[in-house]
Amino acid sequence: MYATLLNAEERILQGHRLSLADFSELLEQRTPERQKRLADHAVLLRKQYYGTDIFVRGLIEFSNYCKNNCLYCGIRRDARQVDRYRLSEEEILSCCRSGYELGYRTFVLQSGEDVIYTPDRMERLIRLIHETYPDCAITLSVGEYSREVYARWREVGATRYLLRHETADPAHYRRIHPPEMSFDNRMRCLRDLKELGYQVGCGMMVGSPFQTAKTLAEDLLFIQDFRPHMVGIGPFIPAQGTPFSGERAGTLDMTLYLLSIIRLIHPTVLLPATTALGTIDPRGREKGILSGANVIMPNLSPVSVREKYKLYDNKICTGEEAAECKNCLSARMESIGYHVVVSRGDYCGTENQHD
Ligand code: 5AD
Ligand code: FES
Repeated sequence: MYATLLNAEERILQGHRLSLADFSELLEQRTPERQKRLADHAVLLRKQYYGTDIFVRGLIEFSNYCKNNCLYCGIRRDARQVDRYRLSEEEILSCCRSGYELGYRTFVLQSGEDVIYTPDRMERLIRLIHETYPDCAITLSVGEYSREVYARWREVGATRYLLRHETADPAHYRRIHPPEMSFDNRMRCLRDLKELGYQVGCGMMVGSPFQTAKTLAEDLLFIQDFRPHMVGIGPFIPAQGTPFSGERAGTLDMTLYLLSIIRLIHPTVLLPATTALGTIDPRGREKGILSGANVIMPNLSPVSVREKYKLYDNKICTGEEAAECKNCLSARMESIGYHVVVSRGDYCGTENQHD
């Protein structure tokens, strides 16, 4: 009732659907008071669904080869200084084993778009991990493929897929990607993944070059409509060897504000406090949780390759063993009154629940 008479802040706090103009207003008029109010409400809402539980996902960065050339990304094809590596199936399984022993029940397999890990080879790998660890969720984050390939991977045991949409504004998309990449295909992938029954994560960087309040408002509108199971956001951080190496990084405050807004428009969403957030501020991940996030993704990759999977400069956690990362994160979460839980941490909303 009278919803249109309320301002955007009241509308989001009362759980109304927001328009593009509402999102733009929230983004253009960010005051510390408003940010605090939204964060407090986001935390309250998150606690209703997830209490003080924080889910962990063990991240395995298994290859930094990439056939793509995204202008922002530190492992793009043309970044010549990158020391390329590719873990073998045995090495990946050994990461899973250490993760399993640490209690992790979700593995995230992430890589660049590596043509040597073909769809067939991925299929065998997923099947192997699924047979070895049937009680674990397998999340893929390996980029754009056909619907048919996604369907095969789903059949052999993958249940979640992370593919950031990067920006919901086609013109902005074209400015941060090379001409051969397509916004429409990105969106097609996300739709296919959802229809195939994956728990799907989209997301965008905060403060990427050419991003405006308008493009961010479009991202929020997209999230509100698409209702992904997960949303990965983190600040853009310039990366050496990329066309954007001299650009400014996104800010901590804007990222935290967006985490709160995303929690408010999609209360059950799984929302990670990302490594990029921990990179721009020493307590970034804690602050992310206190703004509405509820997932952390400690690194399970072998320490010998960590330094090489650098999407951006100064990435944290490159020297720590898996167990050290786990202890560090548990302590960080306890310090703010939250607890790491080692269950699969499935999505608890009602969007296409297939398993
Ligand atoms: N800064 C921050 N995030 C980045 N990503 C890629 N490059 C950067 C960067 N320079 C993000 C993209 C990608 C995800 C895996 O990492 O959003 O989808
Ligand atoms: Fe990796 Fe702290 S989370 S060392």
